[in-house]
Amino acid sequence: MFPIQLPRLSQYLWTLCVHLVIATFLLTVADSFNEQDYLVGRKQVTHNPSELSDAQFLEYSNLSDKQHMREAIRNILVPRVVGTGNHTIVRQYIVQSLRDLGWHVELNSFHDTAPIVGALHFHNIIATLNPQAERFLVLACHYDSKYMENVAFLGATDSAVPCAMLLNLAKVLQEQLEPFKNTNVSLMLLFFDGEEAFEQWGPKDSIYGARHLAKLWQDQGKLDRIDLLVLLDLLGAPDPAFYSFFANTELWHMRLMALETRLSQRGLLQRYMSSGVSQHDPTRYFQPQATRSAYIEDDHIPFLQRNVPILHLIPMPFPSVWHTPDDNESVIDYATTENLALIVRLFTLEYLHGGVAQTK
Ligand SMILES: *[C@@H]1O[C@H](CO)[C@@H](O)[C@H](O)[C@H]1NC(C)=O
Ligand SMILES: *[C@@H]1O[C@H](CO)[C@@H](O)[C@H](O)[C@H]1NC(C)=O
Ligand SMILES: *[C@@H]1O[C@H](CO)[C@@H](O)[C@H](O)[C@H]1NC(C)=O
Ligand SMILES: *[C@@H]1O[C@H](CO)[C@@H](O)[C@H](O)[C@H]1NC(C)=O
Ligand SMILES: [Zn+2]
Repeated sequence: MFPIQLPRLSQYLWTLCVHLVIATFLLTVADSFNEQDYLVGRKQVTHNPSELSDAQFLEYSNLSDKQHMREAIRNILVPRVVGTGNHTIVRQYIVQSLRDLGWHVELNSFHDTAPIVGALHFHNIIATLNPQAERFLVLACHYDSKYMENVAFLGATDSAVPCAMLLNLAKVLQEQLEPFKNTNVSLMLLFFDGEEAFEQWGPKDSIYGARHLAKLWQDQGKLDRIDLLVLLDLLGAPDPAFYSFFANTELWHMRLMALETRLSQRGLLQRYMSSGVSQHDPTRYFQPQATRSAYIEDDHIPFLQRNVPILHLIPMPFPSVWHTPDDNESVIDYATTENLALIVRLFTLEYLHGGVAQTK
């Protein structure tokens, strides 16, 4: 097991919203994916998609749109503190991009008050391929940026790149996702508003959008429709390491590991693990280890508390630029960004195809 470096951890403990015990343990890799049940959702539905065939895998791995990825990042990478003009522009960009691709997009708008700035109007963006679907795989990010006094904080990894990755997924897989406008297991993209604290991270000053939406959907009985919530955060810097945080989604983490391995064996990842600066297993992103006692506060928490299965794609340790003015375009490693985007696209297709096979 590798303990994550202590100096960095103590930094988290003091400055952040992170409480962490460093115990990690090796995941026991299942002999075969098909021998274990992947339970999803609050109804504990079993959903066990088979791996993509070689032909599908090669076809889908070939898809990308690097120019669009850069364009999406450029459009989101402006200071976008809730309540500002640029925040509205970014929201409109996300909404319009998805509507142009034929997605059903709704805003979940509400008022809340925050320290320093006072009353605010927040808007979560909810995009679905099939709003009538019974169940959803949900991919999520937050589109607001952190307020910092006298600093034009850009939040490249936090979370312009994760949000751009979701828009890029919709663009690159436009044709492949078309059938899922009519299926009962479908895809939702969720862009949370107000993730960042304005003054000091705490239960009433942080994750404004996620807190509101989790409660609303619970009241409306809609949480059951979330099979799995995959939250992307702090992505874009080189050499990230991801761990399995939750026992009930460990098998899904292992799917991501398997896809990464399959891509790397075929040489389909770019400039893979080239920097050599990482502390963890430098040969891969998705680590074959679990850390069950890590407690990172993020948009998934109100859903986790309501028993929604969570995959948290956040690197441990966090990028060194986290919550500093240096979290700007210069930290983005486009090769890593494309590699992660590819893994998430393949995961999504594998998941959705499994849903169709199952309901037939
Ligand atoms: C992948 O794309 C390349 C270049 O566009 C093409 O030559 C190749 O046939 C494609 N492979 C697959 C499996 O689609
Ligand atoms: C809004 O975004 C533009 C770039 O699109 C930038 O030039 C401008 O400084 C931003 N405004 C604020 C108040 O951050
Ligand atoms: C979706 O589920 C509903 C209710 O179970 C069913 O009536 C309908 O035929 C299903 N649609 C598809 C496309 O499978
Ligand atoms: C981004 O951050 C780097 C590192 O701190 C800095 O050198 C650079 O000037 C910044 N770039 C912009 C556009 O702010
Ligand atoms: Zn942040």
